[in-house]
Amino acid sequence: DWVMGDYVAEAVTRIREQVGAEEVILGLSGGVDSSVAAALIHRAIGDQLTCVFVDHGLLRLNEADMVMEMFAGKLHAKVLRVDASELFLRELAGVIDPEQKRKIIGRLFVDVFKAEAEKLKAARPGHRGVRFLAQGTIYPDVIESGGAKSKKAVTIKSHHNVGGLPEQLGLQLLEPLRELFKDEVRELGVVLGLPREMVYRHPFPGPGLGVRILGEVKKEYADLLRRADAIFIEELRASIDPESGESWYDLTSQAFAVFLPVKSVGVMGDGRTYDYVVALRAVQTSDFMTADWAELPYALLKKVSSRIINEVRGINRVTYDVSSKPPATIEWE
Ligand code: XMP
Repeated sequence: DWVMGDYVAEAVTRIREQVGAEEVILGLSGGVDSSVAAALIHRAIGDQLTCVFVDHGLLRLNEADMVMEMFAGKLHAKVLRVDASELFLRELAGVIDPEQKRKIIGRLFVDVFKAEAEKLKAARPGHRGVRFLAQGTIYPDVIESGGAKSKKAVTIKSHHNVGGLPEQLGLQLLEPLRELFKDEVRELGVVLGLPREMVYRHPFPGPGLGVRILGEVKKEYADLLRRADAIFIEELRASIDPESGESWYDLTSQAFAVFLPVKSVGVMGDGRTYDYVVALRAVQTSDFMTADWAELPYALLKKVSSRIINEVRGINRVTYDVSSKPPATIEWE
């Protein structure tokens, strides 16, 4: 019988055997896999683990603070927060092509992480220098990189993966989640004391808001989008479907706001407004290969729309995306 508590004890022993007295570095993204890997490795080796959290400025509202509070605050793990948002925004200025944006974000991410890893590789007083790179690779990732993906004739979107990084850095790999499916990773996260909201979060793409701001990425746009998106998510969590007793957040597989850099005319009080548009996207899917747009209750959409327009100055129109995948994709870019 599969008991998660026993699994933790076993995994902790294995990690300790593999790592010995060496030091480990891990790239924390705020996503489920790297979070659970960090919590597990921290349970095993404590301060021999250093997490590096690269903030690219394209995260959701308060996300960076929440990650720091959880790992540095609650778990007392060593976390280096690297604020690289200015670098990312500078390199993205003027770039409108989605694939180009993905490439830039992916490359900068690796550059910033590598620079931190190089610093940590050197021995310091009281430290031997990092010898291991930990990654939250899970079983489906292992299968995917085994070739199934290469059968696809056309690449619709290039998801950056960090292949080859351990070799480039001269570090050994530590992948304690390699044998686990997503559901098991989530269960493990809960056993390790991570909050359920973190462990059962919707997936968030690596390039973050970079692919949810159509065309050129600007700080002004990211700030507006973050606030609209946070309102949408808050209301999805608060709205309970009476039939199932579950929240609309849990009844959808992914939900978010998209920033459209077009202006439309509105009226507020006795004044005319000329402001940006936000699209809401919510989908239900089992594999993210195909997806249906979610039939959210009108009352919920109404509340989200009026809150966004009233609370986020700069947005005066909200639309709901009723496109399924295919032919649309889940993200707009
Ligand atoms: P699409 O938009 O292709 O998305 O229907 C399918 C799933 O993949 C996520 N996605 C990404 N994840 N890097 C990622 O890590 C990316 O560049 C990327 N693009 C899309 C998307 O959020 C959805 O869950």
